[in-house]
Amino acid sequence: MLKISKDIYWTGYIDWDLKVFHGYKTPFGSTYNAYLIDDECPTLIDTVKYYGRDDMLRQIKEIMNPADIRYVVANHAEMDHSGAIDDIMRLAPDAEIVCPARGAEALTRHFKKNWRFKVVKTGDRLSIGKRELMFIQIPMVHWPESMATYSVTDHILFPNDAFGQHYASEERFVDELPLDRILEEAAKYYANIVLLYGPQVQKALHALKDFTIDMICPSHGLIWRDRPQIDHIMNSYDRWSSHETDPTRVLIVYDTMWKSTETMALRLKALFEEAGHLVVVRNLQEHHISDVMTDVLRSRLMLVGTPMLNNHMLPTVASFLMYLKGLQPQNRLALIFGSYGWSKAGFKEVEQFVADAGFTLGAEGQYIQFVPGEDDLQKLNMVVDQLKAQMPSV
Ligand code: FEO
Repeated sequence: MLKISKDIYWTGYIDWDLKVFHGYKTPFGSTYNAYLIDDECPTLIDTVKYYGRDDMLRQIKEIMNPADIRYVVANHAEMDHSGAIDDIMRLAPDAEIVCPARGAEALTRHFKKNWRFKVVKTGDRLSIGKRELMFIQIPMVHWPESMATYSVTDHILFPNDAFGQHYASEERFVDELPLDRILEEAAKYYANIVLLYGPQVQKALHALKDFTIDMICPSHGLIWRDRPQIDHIMNSYDRWSSHETDPTRVLIVYDTMWKSTETMALRLKALFEEAGHLVVVRNLQEHHISDVMTDVLRSRLMLVGTPMLNNHMLPTVASFLMYLKGLQPQNRLALIFGSYGWSKAGFKEVEQFVADAGFTLGAEGQYIQFVPGEDDLQKLNMVVDQLKAQMPSV
């Protein structure tokens, strides 16, 4: 139990052992943040994943009898946040669950219980004693029923998944750790969880623009309380959700069979570096797709390389492109390249995947039979020139 502000406590669970979160690699674990407000009507904001229930309840009991909880705010029905709601409702049977109508439907579908719901919508306010809470629906950040809760009295925002990071640590505040470290995890979180929902994030930011926010308490990772850091993460969300990229940054992502595709990747790297671009190279044998997504988030241009295996791209590349297609980055250029033995027909499939993922193919794909010779590699100069012409000069 940790007091984060007057009468407000962190009662969450630190998941040191989490290594994968539905396909997203989390080498640094995560946290599920619940917050207890000790006011005249004690209010719990969100709960934790089911296996963190004992930790959450122990901390609540250090502050009050759980039976005294009057409201349980369910900002999001996904089970990393609702997983212990059944336990708290058993201990506090008179409590009302505060959530939007879709939240009530989702929680009922999940738990099959006849709980009492206080259905709220954007702009509704709830007095819990000395303080007043306000609710802002933020649909699709990250599910349709998602909501942010704002303490009007404390100027604290509880936005659930938004502004979170999968990062387990002893510290609870961003300003207690190196900022770059947390921003990296916040970017990875955005790229893998939120990227698809840019327009909805823009709406949420618009809805919050006139709020005074002295603290952002997300449902994962560390709390933002330093003014420049709050501005930084909100501005980052604005840029990311507008699909702004570093216009000079190039991502090369590939897999290789007999190093022909790798040879092409390295020549492309050298050509873009000679032109002054920042180039990031990710071999999918070494880099997880959820890490590569952070590079996608930042890069204006992505070059995707694969050899042909049985007339298709390599499975690592297919996995990456399927994942990418679900996340739909916009306003980005791409080029497909690779090597083949006797048929290059399968590259059409790769091009289609990348186009369907939201990219504009900036030049004709570059496909070389068997092993590239210097004459083949020289041909890459022209395509690099074509792509450079579509990017700002560096
Ligand atoms: Fe952290 Fe969408 O759940």
